[in-house]
Amino acid sequence: MFTEQPLKGAKAYYLRTVLHDWPDKQSLLALARVREAMADDSVLLINENTLPEVGASSFSVSLDINMMNIFAALERTEKQWVDLLERAGFRVVKIWRADYDGVGSNALFEAVACQLWN
Ligand SMILES: C[S@@+](CC[C@H](N)C(=O)[O-])C[C@H]1O[C@@H](n2cnc3c(N)ncnc32)[C@H](O)[C@@H]1O
Repeated sequence: MFTEQPLKGAKAYYLRTVLHDWPDKQSLLALARVREAMADDSVLLINENTLPEVGASSFSVSLDINMMNIFAALERTEKQWVDLLERAGFRVVKIWRADYDGVGSNALFEAVACQLWN
């Protein structure tokens, strides 16, 4: 995922519980490979566990600590996911949320590539 994405111009690129294994630096590289493969009408779908700002479940907290210990990575809040995607040159157009905190992937971020000015 750090090398050129061979599938160009797909309607959707879907990553489920991949980026939580990676710190921001590597996540941005992986997202850049997807972004450069996207067509104007492509969408990016990031399906991840998403922590609340306060009151995370013990499952989410332990997962966050495990990601830090094993990969120097993290579970992210909604704000952190949106920030990561914006830094990668995406605009989040919709956040689909499940009504639970914890297991696996409770949020789907739908994003489109936007113009990069720098
Ligand atoms: C937590 S698993 C999620 C698997 C699957 N997407 C799911 O939701 O069940 C993380 C996945 O990221 C993949 N992955 C990690 N590093 C990768 C890399 N450098 N290139 C491609 N895939 C990678 C792993 O192979 C693994 O399948």
